[in-house]
Amino acid sequence: MRLSRSVAVFILFFTAGSGTTVYENEFTEEDTTPQLDYTNPYWCHPPGLTNGEVTCHSPRGRAYRSTLGTRCQMSCDRGYKLLGRRSIMCLANRRWSGTAYCRKMRCHMLPLIYHGRYTCTQGFMVDSRCDFTCDTGYRIEGEPSRICQHRGSWSGVQPVCSDTDPPKIKCPPSRLKVAEPGKLTAKVTWDPPTATDTAHKSLDVILVGQEPGTDFKEGLHIIRYKVFDQARNRAACKFIVRVEVRRCPELFPPLHSYLSCSSDGNNYGATCEYHCEGGYERRGVSSRVCQFNRSWGGDPAECVSIEIKADVKTAPALLDQFYEKRRLLIVSAPNMSDPDYQLQNIMTQKADCGLALRHVTVIELLGSPPRETGRIKESLLQPQVIEGLRQAFRISRSYFSMVLLDELGLDRERFISPVGSDELFSYIDSFLLDEEEREKLELRSDFCD
Ligand SMILES: *[C@@H]1O[C@H](CO)[C@@H](O)[C@H](O)[C@H]1NC(C)=O
Ligand SMILES: *[C@@H]1O[C@H](CO)[C@@H](O)[C@H](O)[C@H]1NC(C)=O
Repeated sequence: MRLSRSVAVFILFFTAGSGTTVYENEFTEEDTTPQLDYTNPYWCHPPGLTNGEVTCHSPRGRAYRSTLGTRCQMSCDRGYKLLGRRSIMCLANRRWSGTAYCRKMRCHMLPLIYHGRYTCTQGFMVDSRCDFTCDTGYRIEGEPSRICQHRGSWSGVQPVCSDTDPPKIKCPPSRLKVAEPGKLTAKVTWDPPTATDTAHKSLDVILVGQEPGTDFKEGLHIIRYKVFDQARNRAACKFIVRVEVRRCPELFPPLHSYLSCSSDGNNYGATCEYHCEGGYERRGVSSRVCQFNRSWGGDPAECVSIEIKADVKTAPALLDQFYEKRRLLIVSAPNMSDPDYQLQNIMTQKADCGLALRHVTVIELLGSPPRETGRIKESLLQPQVIEGLRQAFRISRSYFSMVLLDELGLDRERFISPVGSDELFSYIDSFLLDEEEREKLELRSDFCD
């Protein structure tokens, strides 16, 4: 069949997606109006893409990659990123509709990690693998490697190096200390332990318990040390401080005496002093010390009755026996039936023990010559002695009176009416006793009850 018209008929069928082109054409060459040459395989210059691939669909088939109307898809190789047009077409002006190129892709620089490092197979290029390692004493947490993926991003997340090794600490050995002499405590010292840690140099060692170099009480003391590294890993140790108080067997006072002891009474170094009751004097050592081997030094002392010779010839001879040992209370009355004397006698008898504790001896002077008596308890005094005492201390025979003499024989107080034991003792305690005697008396306040 012949076409009547000299018109080029050009029909193109593209089957979409298949990449193959089906075409049919029929034309009659008459006028050469269209200059376009659909048959020229190199209408445009052949497309190229470094590090990439160009896939073209030409109406005329695979061999016509650069014919007019050819459309090409640009894609880059793995690790490269396409910049420019993804799709270009060969245009009538013999140029492609756009340009593109492939740029090598990199991942961003991996940050450094604390207490660790990484090494990479190809730097930060695509497909490079970076392996993380930690410093000694640290352990990796998370994935130990990251890969630069083809889209330029790192796989996974950044691992961290964490300190999981606890520090090490060693306490000093436990120790036994004997309390110092005269004390119930001992000063105990030690060198605080040092802690080591693989990861850290400086560590805070915390003491839980009593400080070294201080006084420790009798008994067991547990001393603990704790240490934390900067990752709060913990270590601890402990040891025992034992303080022993060495003791002697309890010391009992001999008859007619009492003891005053320092410190705790019978601990190592304690000193016990003997004190004889009124009317008694000590034979033997004045004190004993508790020794380290738990025995008392020296031999026990005893308290023996003071021998007063009443039958001396003169007042001074009598007073000499009391000098620096005893106080005297001289009671004088006109006769034994004197009511003041009788009243005083009753009160003084009740005060016997208290007077003995205060080292007071009572001398009685009663009546007038020739039937005058002077006595210390049952022992009678010579008339010259009575006269001597009356003169020395100006004691009248005509009325009731009492004179209190101190240990040096000095006239300290006078009473002209009877006094109760409380009043008498309070006077003696306040004015005649020294501090030490007062303290001892206080300790024995219930002795006479
Ligand atoms: C205790 O030690 C003292 C010397 O310090 C010694 O004289 C005494 O015999 C010792 N006593 C005992 C029971 O070992
Ligand atoms: C005793 O002395 C008083 C005066 O104090 C006197 O009144 C009395 O008669 C005396 N008694 C004797 C028995 O001497």
